[in-house]
Amino acid sequence: MTPVLEMQNVTKCFGGLRAVKGVSLEMNAGEILFIIGPNGAGKTTVFNLISGFLHPDEGVILFQGKNISRMAPHRAARLGIGRTFQIVKPLPSLTVLQNVMLGAFMHTGNLSHAESEAAKILDFLQMSHLSKFSARGLPLAALKRLEIARALATKPKLILLDEVVSGLTTSEALALAELVKRLPEWGVSVVGGVEHVMQVVMKIADRVIVLDYGAKIAEGSPAEVVKLPVVVEAYLGPKYKELTQ
Ligand SMILES: Nc1ncnc2c1ncn2[C@@H]1O[C@H](COP(=O)(O)OP(=O)(O)O)[C@@H](O)[C@H]1O
Ligand SMILES: [Mg+2]
Repeated sequence: MTPVLEMQNVTKCFGGLRAVKGVSLEMNAGEILFIIGPNGAGKTTVFNLISGFLHPDEGVILFQGKNISRMAPHRAARLGIGRTFQIVKPLPSLTVLQNVMLGAFMHTGNLSHAESEAAKILDFLQMSHLSKFSARGLPLAALKRLEIARALATKPKLILLDEVVSGLTTSEALALAELVKRLPEWGVSVVGGVEHVMQVVMKIADRVIVLDYGAKIAEGSPAEVVKLPVVVEAYLGPKYKELTQ
């Protein structure tokens, strides 16, 4: 079967800085992949490359076998690549429901269809009670869910979740993780990116890729990856050793 996403030897430079260095990855339909690494490791740059906000200097990105390396973001979105942003940006003057409907308008021009799709997604994300609220002033945990809802409403095949649980309390993060784990029920594959919050990654990722200064230094199941000395020492620190025991 053709992988949903393939990155082959992708490099991206900003001036003299090689933010992503020869990264290759492959993922299959329905998979949940997490990219971990500290601030500056290149996670957001990888998301920007996949979603067409940036283009690689070297290497190729394939989505369902199609070369999308030079594709503009709106075309990548139409093709089925949805994303959330590390800095959440809903339209504050619209309600929660209207924000999600905007996503649905990518594939339907019918108002009531868009509304029922949006309502279903809000129900799944356990935020129906917020439907009529303005997006302005929502707490961060609700804003993070709204970002996912908006992306899901575009009916993506692949959804990119950049720092989806950052800034949340542990219980908020774990509750959201339960929902992220169920995203494949919507026919999407998931690529998440997190700086630390290993607890979440351990719970929901099928596979983990570790970035170190833009290079992939490890890949495997969460349980395998947290045991690797290079990961423990370079990233997670001694306190994470207990997770592996
Ligand atoms: N638009 C940009 N211009 C210049 N440097 C950038 C840009 N975006 C990211 N960088 C740099 O690239 C490196 C990787 O950043 P980023 O992908 O945001 O990492 P992460 O998401 O893992 O924290 C960092 O050193 C960052 O400062
Ligand atoms: Mg980032």
